[in-house]
Amino acid sequence: MAGIRELPSGVSRFERVGAHTHIKGLGLDENLKAVKIKDGMVGQERAREAAGLVVQMIKQGKLSGRLIILAGPPGTGKTAIAVAIARELGANVPFIQLSGGEIYSTERKKTEVLMEAIRKCIGVEIHEQREVYEGEVKSMDVKLSPHPYNPYQRIPESVRLTLKTTKEERTIEAGSSIAQQLIAQNVSEGDVIQIDAETGRLVNLGVSTEHSKSKLYEVGSARRVPRPDGPVKKEKEFVYTLTLHDMDEMVARRRGGSLLSLFFGASESREISPDIRASVDQEVKEMVDQGRAFIHPGVLFIDDSHLLDLEAFSFLGRALESELVPIVILATNRGVTKIRGTDVESPFGFPLDLIDRSVIIMTEEYDKDSIREILKIRAVEEKVEISEEALEKLTELGSKTSLRYAVQLLSLASQNAASKQRSKVELEDVDRVGKLFVDVGGAAEYLRKYEEKLLKH
Ligand SMILES: Nc1ncnc2c1ncn2[C@@H]1O[C@H](COP(=O)(O)OP(=O)(O)OP(=O)(O)O)[C@@H](O)[C@H]1O
Ligand SMILES: [Mg+2]
Repeated sequence: MAGIRELPSGVSRFERVGAHTHIKGLGLDENLKAVKIKDGMVGQERAREAAGLVVQMIKQGKLSGRLIILAGPPGTGKTAIAVAIARELGANVPFIQLSGGEIYSTERKKTEVLMEAIRKCIGVEIHEQREVYEGEVKSMDVKLSPHPYNPYQRIPESVRLTLKTTKEERTIEAGSSIAQQLIAQNVSEGDVIQIDAETGRLVNLGVSTEHSKSKLYEVGSARRVPRPDGPVKKEKEFVYTLTLHDMDEMVARRRGGSLLSLFFGASESREISPDIRASVDQEVKEMVDQGRAFIHPGVLFIDDSHLLDLEAFSFLGRALESELVPIVILATNRGVTKIRGTDVESPFGFPLDLIDRSVIIMTEEYDKDSIREILKIRAVEEKVEISEEALEKLTELGSKTSLRYAVQLLSLASQNAASKQRSKVELEDVDRVGKLFVDVGGAAEYLRKYEEKLLKH
């Protein structure tokens, strides 16, 4: 038995409903005008249109090294807009999300965390012309010889390979490294392989569709590829995209760990030294100059960035002036407040020179209609059925307190309905959870009332 088990039809995927799962994009039309309700987005038109322009410039590669501040009161959709920007940019543009608080750790310097995040946001598309041997294996003759230290064991010494394409046939002889790779990758007659002429790296591409073996295989057990075309030895272009951080790690690994890790097995330090980064930058710049690589600056989004301190801000400011930088978006819900780590007050708690260098997108409080629409969208997303009166009540609560509170109450009300074996949320559910749970204002009032009785430490 192959151990294959069929699942009953209608098996559903485990679905998670996060706070922003309903956001599918910025909801703009082709002229970058916001449609009131689209892509899960409601209202907040000005901020969405501004974000649309930003996305367009990012896509055209015009915005690298810029700073964008998303500012507005809590729950007005700053994080939602950043999520929408990521969706609009698509999978090819790196988008890294970080919270201001994440840079503080006992193990790593905060500038290091930021540096790594910045380098993860820069994609390098590398085009590489390689000389390769490529073809279907017609015959393969591996010569074995005794192991020099263990004559009882036989190891592959060399191989004679005949490769075939639709045009020609060619026989090559190769040493032990290729012979070993052939065995390790289980290559046999009828497989299509590719060998890098310079490095000898071998890839088993799959079974040739022309070979009789391809008919023997069970469905799905091997990849089928057509027999290659043209000559066996040829120039081929490879395109792959890495981030600067991937390249840093590769170089760091190539250079090996410290002596300490060699002798004592100490875990390698996670920090990548500045000279590794400098050499990667150098290499990338050379490739770009030669037309072998293209840079795709992505987006670094730092949520709750009022949690950054003066050091982090100055690091960011300096990093934005270097050549290989992403677009940085900072979100904050603070007004005029102290910059962390100083006694200086400033808008958003950001240093003035940084604000000076940025463009600012403001989000505004929602009106009642928008709140109602967002609640409706959330109800669909969470698969909650809700009656008209219950929705009206939630909208009212939302406009009196906050959108986020109303969104929270929606899930709680649905839980309350479920506990009463009802599938639809009614007014009484909203009323009940509204009484059981309090909003920020209610909590503050309670704390003031019982100030004396509550413990302080
Ligand atoms: N315009 C909008 N359209 C649809 N949903 C929205 C919109 N604005 C906000 N939301 C949703 O409302 C909730 C609160 O918004 P969000 O978390 O984006 O606020 P925020 O401005 O980041 O708040 P904070 O300052 O507290 O971080 C989220 O579930 C979000 O997806
Ligand atoms: Mg947020």
